[in-house]
Amino acid sequence: MKPNHFHIKKLIPWLLYILLPLAILHLYLSTLSSPATSPNDTASTSVSVSSSSSDSQTVAEQHPSWTSCNFSDGQWVSHSGGPLYSGTACKTIKKGQNCMEHGRPDAGYLHWRWQPRRCSLPPFDPAAFLDLIADKHLAFVGDSMARNQLESLLCLLAVAEEPDLVYRDGEENKFRRWVFRRRNATVSIFWSPFLVKGVEKDEPAGRKHNTLFLETADDRWAADLEGIDVVLFSAGHWYLLPAIYHEHGVVLGCHACLDFNLTEIGFFDVFRKAVRTALGEVSRRQNSSGEKLVLVTTFSPAHFEGEWDKAGACPRKEPYREGEKEMGYTDALMRRIAVEEVAASAAAADSRGGGKVKMEALDVTEMALLRPDGHPGPYMHPHPFAGGEVRDRVQNDCVHWCLPGPIDSWNEMLLQVIRRWKKGSH
Ligand SMILES: *[C@@H]1O[C@H](CO)[C@@H](O)[C@H](O)[C@H]1NC(C)=O
Ligand SMILES: *[C@@H]1O[C@H](CO)[C@@H](O)[C@H](O)[C@H]1NC(C)=O
Ligand SMILES: *[C@@H]1O[C@H](CO)[C@@H](O)[C@H](O)[C@H]1NC(C)=O
Ligand SMILES: *[C@@H]1O[C@H](CO)[C@@H](O)[C@H](O)[C@H]1NC(C)=O
Ligand SMILES: *[C@@H]1O[C@H](CO)[C@@H](O)[C@H](O)[C@H]1NC(C)=O
Repeated sequence: MKPNHFHIKKLIPWLLYILLPLAILHLYLSTLSSPATSPNDTASTSVSVSSSSSDSQTVAEQHPSWTSCNFSDGQWVSHSGGPLYSGTACKTIKKGQNCMEHGRPDAGYLHWRWQPRRCSLPPFDPAAFLDLIADKHLAFVGDSMARNQLESLLCLLAVAEEPDLVYRDGEENKFRRWVFRRRNATVSIFWSPFLVKGVEKDEPAGRKHNTLFLETADDRWAADLEGIDVVLFSAGHWYLLPAIYHEHGVVLGCHACLDFNLTEIGFFDVFRKAVRTALGEVSRRQNSSGEKLVLVTTFSPAHFEGEWDKAGACPRKEPYREGEKEMGYTDALMRRIAVEEVAASAAAADSRGGGKVKMEALDVTEMALLRPDGHPGPYMHPHPFAGGEVRDRVQNDCVHWCLPGPIDSWNEMLLQVIRRWKKGSH
């Protein structure tokens, strides 16, 4: 491909507002149609298990600076050791993100490690993580990015102990819960792509847009808050889709308005309101008993470089070097909104709740931005080029992450954040 920079620049807004939502919609539709059956477990494991409990404990002790370290400020460095788990061995990966099993031929993307500038991020330690959430309930709430991070965590933890699936809702695996019996640790996922109450678009059912109610938290997760100790919100991409926004019984406006006679108000302000509503709900429902940690994973940029249904939609095989990639406007603003709202709600929760609720952003936007090589691309489908077939159009996923893949590092950071919380609270 010979990139014509002028042409590409002009295409960017169009891509963002038209193609990306379409692409995401396709990904969600394919989510709905693919049951999460276990992959056929072949024994061909191409990566090595590279960490043990005692190793990373030592690393953490040698670098006590992690307590004050900004993990988000760093770069990807090459790493000869492979990931902790293999896509063919982990049984809980959604098919579309199991790049190994789907025949992705290159493996270079597996050999990078996130290196913060002023400290080190210890490799993930499954046993230590399970100890931290022993007798606790960690819940992921959000869209398919929340699910992607959850499934990464399940694979990482399964190295120490296989989880028991104890609950799933009838269809689409949107609400699931696992228990790690040895430590009585519970991990769950709640589907809630807006965090607030909403009705999802559904083309086959004739709903071309989402409908959001910005002042009301989604009760599907809010109703269960009392039993949850650590809640991690991860949402944002659905805000790019066509939507009508309601607040206190009034229609505020719409985004990507189609043919409604309503005012286009974009999605940034409404995303801000939704994050505020979700965090406020956690504070509001907090009782005197127990302490809670509330995390918000910041926006994860997509890496479509051309048309989303052309084979090379996210063709890179290596991370961007430091300074090589500037963050786009939408990515930067979605990140900033989450960070600002977490800071504001954390301050409010402190003054109201006497420090019972801690809130923090899991700031992954820069880490994610630098990893154009970590997406399934055409390997969201099994063996898309089997038999030497050259197809003109294939669906690409340049939004979610391969498992194993870069998103495993989000959970390395999550471990440190939970560790810091537990030290602070006892
Ligand atoms: C899974 O593996 C088993 C045993 O190796 C084999 O009999 C079966 O056909 C495989 N199923 C699929 C869907 O590949
Ligand atoms: C941490 O680093 C990131 C990336 O450089 C930066 O955007 C952010 O502002 C930093 N956070 C703090 C609290 O300094
Ligand atoms: C098991 O963990 C749950 C939290 O997920 C807690 O409520 C319960 O008390 C724990 N059970 C025991 C026996 O400690
Ligand atoms: C669109 O809304 C404006 C202002 O509310 C109104 O004046 C106009 O008649 C509406 N147009 C249509 C086609 O409904
Ligand atoms: C906590 O508050 C909820 C209402 O928000 C109430 O239903 C519940 O019983 C309370 N639990 C405790 C332990 O006070």
